[in-house]
Amino acid sequence: MAKQKLKDLNQEHIITWMDKLPDDEKNKLANQVLNLNIKQVVDLYNNLNKTFEIGNKKIEKISAIDIEKLSKEDFEKYKNTGIDVIKNNQYAVITMAGGQGTRLGHNGPKGTFMVHLNSGDKYLFQIIVEALQKANNKYSVTIPWYIMTSEENNDQTQAFLEEHNYFGYPKDSVKLFKQGKVPLISNKGKLLIGSNKLIKEASDGNGSIYASLKNDGILDEMKAKNIKWVFVGGVDNILLRIVDPLLLGVTISQNNQIASKSVKKANPKERAGVFCKIDGMPGIIEYSELPEEMAEERDEHGDLVYGDVNILSHLFSFDALEKLSNVKLPYHIAEKVSDYLDEDGNLVKPIEKNVYKFESFIFDAFSNYNEMSILRVQRSEEFAPIKNKEGVDSPETAVNLYNNAKSL
Ligand code: UTP
Repeated sequence: MAKQKLKDLNQEHIITWMDKLPDDEKNKLANQVLNLNIKQVVDLYNNLNKTFEIGNKKIEKISAIDIEKLSKEDFEKYKNTGIDVIKNNQYAVITMAGGQGTRLGHNGPKGTFMVHLNSGDKYLFQIIVEALQKANNKYSVTIPWYIMTSEENNDQTQAFLEEHNYFGYPKDSVKLFKQGKVPLISNKGKLLIGSNKLIKEASDGNGSIYASLKNDGILDEMKAKNIKWVFVGGVDNILLRIVDPLLLGVTISQNNQIASKSVKKANPKERAGVFCKIDGMPGIIEYSELPEEMAEERDEHGDLVYGDVNILSHLFSFDALEKLSNVKLPYHIAEKVSDYLDEDGNLVKPIEKNVYKFESFIFDAFSNYNEMSILRVQRSEEFAPIKNKEGVDSPETAVNLYNNAKSL
């Protein structure tokens, strides 16, 4: 049956491989073939031009609330609304930590990376735990913490947290769940065999979160706990404010189901995705897809019209997560370099990009709602990402920002 499936999808080279393997390895590979959605990836390959593209979609401005411009009364009102949610144990946090962190090049999951702050040496996961603990003490609660990992880094993440005793966080309030994956496909439309003699797969992007929350039973658990609002953030912004009643209050007051924080775009050329409306619905446009004249466009106050940078700081109602867990997101294509075993079992290490990786993005789901709340916050207080080994958005720049933030 596995062989027939491969034949039907033009992947006979895997059959040749299979036939050369000893029985146990052959069975493993055959099982993998039966379980994988190969048709989906072959279809994606055959329709490369139909994956997500801005193309001639209509891009328009989206409005945001600027924290600097809030009146004192509104600020207090929003904050109190949010505090009620947290105090009623209706708030949970998800850290997305399934990425590969290729640009940083750290040997291990990104959350296990250590930064040297004025206040001491800390792992990224530890910084998150400390923020949670601070909120727990303030509001007399224990916020459930979920961590999205991937097949590649789940075991290492689990072992690291065990080894550090979850940095003192109550263990039964921490749960890891694995995101989905898709097979890689070569630029010739062929599946690849990895050094474990199985078909190479890779994480399918952070948009995988919605389906994974459902498939891994997290939504059921949240429902049982009566969680009403869920914060979702990345693992690598050391100034990320993961428990902020203000964001909750703004979203609830605007009667929205989803919300994000943004920071003001530093200059028209900053390489960051910005919030906008795409064909009338909320979304994010990547810097590479935003036409130059739009990137430069300014409003009557001289501010960039597309000036709200995505900092991976999102809030969802539980109902929204439940709804979005059933939505199919579009795939974006990334071309990557991936080594593989050739027909003779030799490891090939290409220097040029040789595979397509399909990824979905968390923000593509926003378009399922007519409106969302966007709260523009101060960059210096809430955005210190670690993406690259050196230069922009590196440990060095992030640590400087962290050490200079006033609100810590
Ligand atoms: P990035 O897109 O910055 O990717 O992820 P990355 O893996 O950290 O780094 P590069 O691009 O390989 O250098 C933004 C956030 O989304 C998570 C990451 O862990 C990070 O918190 N993410 C990304 C996932 O959880 N799963 C994915 O498949 C991709």
